[in-house]
Order: sequence, then structure tokens, then C-alpha cells
Amino acid sequence: MDQSARARLMHKLADLIDRDSDIIANVESLDNGNLLKWRNSMFFFVQCCFVIMLVMQTNFTVGQFQVMLFINNEFVESVTKKTFVTSNPANGKKLADVAEGDKDDVNLAVEAAKKAFKRSSEWRNMDQSARARLMHKLADLIDRDSDIIANVESLDNGKPFKMAKLDVYFVQCCSLLCCYVRKEPIGVCGQIIPWNYPALMVVFKLAPILATGCVSILKPAEQTPLSALYIASLVKEAGIPAGVVNVITGYGPTAGAAIASHPDIRKVAFTGSTEVGKLIMEAAAKSNLKKVSLELGGKSPLVIFDDVNLDEVVPLAQDAIFTNSGQICCGGSRTFVQERIYDEFVKRTVENAKKRKVGCPFKEDTVQGPQVDQDTFDKILKYIDYGKEDGAKLEAGGKRWGNEGFYIEPTVFSNVTDDMRIAQDEIFGPVQSILKFKTIDEVIERANNTTYGLAAGVFTNDINKALTFANAVEAGSVWVNCYNATNVCSPFGGYKQSGIGRELGEEGINLYLETKAVSIKLPAKN
Ligand code: NAI
Ligand code: MG
Repeated sequence: MDQSARARLMHKLADLIDRDSDIIANVESLDNGNLLKWRNSMFFFVQCCFVIMLVMQTNFTVGQFQVMLFINNEFVESVTKKTFVTSNPANGKKLADVAEGDKDDVNLAVEAAKKAFKRSSEWRNMDQSARARLMHKLADLIDRDSDIIANVESLDNGKPFKMAKLDVYFVQCCSLLCCYVRKEPIGVCGQIIPWNYPALMVVFKLAPILATGCVSILKPAEQTPLSALYIASLVKEAGIPAGVVNVITGYGPTAGAAIASHPDIRKVAFTGSTEVGKLIMEAAAKSNLKKVSLELGGKSPLVIFDDVNLDEVVPLAQDAIFTNSGQICCGGSRTFVQERIYDEFVKRTVENAKKRKVGCPFKEDTVQGPQVDQDTFDKILKYIDYGKEDGAKLEAGGKRWGNEGFYIEPTVFSNVTDDMRIAQDEIFGPVQSILKFKTIDEVIERANNTTYGLAAGVFTNDINKALTFANAVEAGSVWVNCYNATNVCSPFGGYKQSGIGRELGEEGINLYLETKAVSIKLPAKN
């Protein structure tokens, strides 16, 4: 049974226990006289982690929620009343005018968050089991409205209908009170997220906020503000107190920079480009030394040894980079193939690329939608030109697909060498670069010869090769005979310039907690 199915069963069990909690508490009181003890064990169930599959359908119209800033549980206009346009990447047409937040709006959101986090506020006084219950409620609402959210996502981001069956993770709540060490919520946190997985990123970021009792000022990417605003409306409906979650839509250098440099924000979490990650860290250092966690870019190696079954591996290696139109931080963007099978691998990869269905995100058989916007589209075509200029062999694709929207053909280069720009820089598009290697030592060296270190993959039937590579490669996630296998219990983040800190798993929770050691003088030694 996969985790999501198991999570659903846990969810169901927690609901049933919740429903019958009076009966169980009565049984417990009669049987052992201790009601409190029961409450603790019930809490344990409610804090189970659950994963929600968002199933996409059609028929969404913008207008079921408000495309304004979400501050203190209300949708409000920005102070300047300015708006910006978010458009549909499948045809370039306008979807909605979204409120444009800036510094003054961030200040208002921080005031609301500070109030929500004040000592003796409703949120601070709420015990962990009640907080877990609210998370549970929010997860139910997201589940209820999963069709709407998935449609918003396809319209705003271009993510294909089928592909955008998003797994929305709610990370485990965490209660770590021991005798003398307390884990306490950090407080007001800024969270700046990108456009490639808009709803998933909202949940990655909000889950530890709610689990630990922090409060958030979240800024979605300007390209894809809609699903975050929809989820904000559910935050209010779930009964989460005002000020706990605030959403400021707007641009990076204004609203984003105001978050990174705000003196009252104590932690900032950012997902996006390495370039902006550096700016965030600098702003944090220059303002109040707020804690920083960063999930940045990558140029991840996927190594294929010559003992594999090509029928299985060719499509997997292609999914590793073409998933989400190649707009994926951990994409396997350097495909290293062992010499003996190289030519056959390239031939089959090209056949496979030509079969991939590009098109409207809402068509049933589409596996690749448009790129998110003109800038991303232009950057990818520029790198395709670099590939040709630097001497790689263009084997498939290489051009715009169709005549409207920001579609790019699935593109494959062979004869790629380590010095080429397409082998060094993050392209963030459907461009597969295939490199040749001879030995395991050589490929480890070359795989690590990058400033990034987010992820890596290896395909082989030889366990020794797999483990040697997995232990030697400098990457935060390593996948063996699979790729992009991120899950809620595994810490996720990067080595080197791919980031700082790990989201998800226990480490993801710890990012939002301070540790306090309380030492008490004892009256006498025994
Ligand atoms: P970006 O890093 O500029 O944008 C990500 C988020 O940061 C957005 O919410 C944006 O508004 C915000 N931001 C931008 N400048 C800021 C600033 N000075 N202060 C605070 N916040 C700021 O990424 P962009 O421009 O959309 O994409 C450029 C490249 O970055 C992509 O081609 C790709 O290579 C990489 N990227 C990596 C992602 C990942 O998942 N690791 C996600 C998105 C982009
Ligand atoms: Mg940018």
C-alpha cells in the first residue's frame, strides 16, 4: 500500500476515534480512572501525517475566491490598490488582476502575525491537540475542494491535468517536550515560494507552521498567485485564528524583499533560484539575522550503468527531466550513460521524446503543458541555441511547439560534454542532455563537478555500484532505480549551492522550532 493510501486510512481512523471520543474516554475513565492519559493517546492519532491526492477536473471559473491579499483572515486590497495580471500560459491570455502587495502590506501582515503569536493569544494558548485538529480540518477542506485547486493550478501554471494530480503533504506534527529541554515555535516566519509547484509549495510551507504553532507571511510567485489564495480562503473556513496565515501576492524585489529584510520576521524560508537565495540570505544578515532555510536550483546527475533494462529505464530517465515541463528543481538534467549502451540509449530516448504528448493541460492524454511564462520560454530556447553552438548534437525537438502559448518541444541533445553550458547551468525546461561515461570512479567525479547538489539518481542492477554511487555523490536526495521519489518522511534539500536546511521529515519540523535548555539547580547531590 502506498503512503497516500495508508495516510488516508490513518485519517479515517482518526476521524472515527474523534467521532467516538466520548465513548472511548468514558471506557478509559472507568477502566483506569485517568482521562488525561486518554487525551494524550488520542492526540497521537490526530497528529498522524496525511497525504491528500488532488484529483483534477475541469469547469473552474476564477471568481469563487478573491484574488486579493489575505491578511488577518480577510481578503483585502493592497495599500496602494495596485494590481498585476496573472495569465494562462497555454494561450497567454489574462486570467485575473491580482492585488500587488509591497512593503506596507508586508508590515500589516507582520502586525497581524505578531498579534496572533502574542503570549496568551488564542493560537499560543491552544494546546497541541487542538492545533492538530485544525490542521486536520484544513486538510479535509483541501480534500473537499481538490478539484477546484487542481483546476486553478492548471490554468495559472499550465501543469497538465493528469500530471497535476498533486500529492499535498501535511507533515507530521511534533511535540517534543522533555523535562529540561523545550522546543518552542520560532514565531513570525516569512515564506517565499516559486511558481513551478504552487499548491504543493504552499502545503510544504504551511504544514510545519501549523504543526509547530508558528505564524506565516507567505508570498506566492507573481506568475502563479491563485492556488495560494484559494487555500487561504480554506484557512479561514477551517477556523484557524486570524493572523496565523497571511498571504501577500506581489513581486520579488518589493514584497519578497520586504519579507526578507523585515526586522520582526524571525525566520525566512525560500524556494527558488540560487541567485535570489543569496539575496535572501544577505537581507536576513543585514536586517535582524533571521534564520534562513533555502531550497534552490540544481543540475542533478542521473547515472545509467550498462546492466539495465533499457525498456524500463529510457522512459524513467526521460520523466526524470521532462516532468512538469522540465520546471523541476531536482530534475535529472545530466543523463550520464555508460559507453556500451550509449548509442542504443540515445536512439530509444529520441523515439520516446517524439511520442510525448504536448498540448492543452486539460486534455486527457497530455503529459507536457506550456512553460510558465515568456521569460522562462525565452531562457530555454536560448539554452537550446547554446547547446548547438557548443557542439552538442540536437537529436529531437529544439523549437516552439504550436503557435500560441509558451510550449516547447521535448528536446534531446547527445554528445554533451561537461564544459558545455547545457551541462552546467539550470535550464528549467524540457531539455535532456545525454553524456557518455566509462567507469564508476570517473562518473562520480564528473557528477560531483558542479556548484549544485540537490539530487541524484542511479540505475543499475548491481547493488555495490548503486551504494558506492549513492554514498559518494554530493546531493541531498539520491534515488536508486527510481527518480523524483520525494516523500513526506524524507528530508529534502541540497548540498553546496542547492540550499541550506531540509524540508519535510523531522528536520523539516525542526526548522521552525527553537530549542531551549532549562537548567535547574538541585538542592543536594545524592
Ligand atoms: P526566483 O528565484 O526569482 O523566484 C522565486 C520566488 O522568489 C518568487 O516568489 C519571486 O517573487 C521571489 N523573489 C524574486 N526576487 C526576490 C527578491 N529580491 N527578494 C525576495 N524574493 C524574491 O525564480 P524565477 O525568476 O521565477 O526563475 C528563475 C530561475 O530560477 C528558473 O529558470 C530556475 O532555474 C530557478 N528556479 C528554481 C526553482 C526551484 O524549485 N528550486 C523554482 C523556480 C525557479
Ligand atoms: Mg527571478
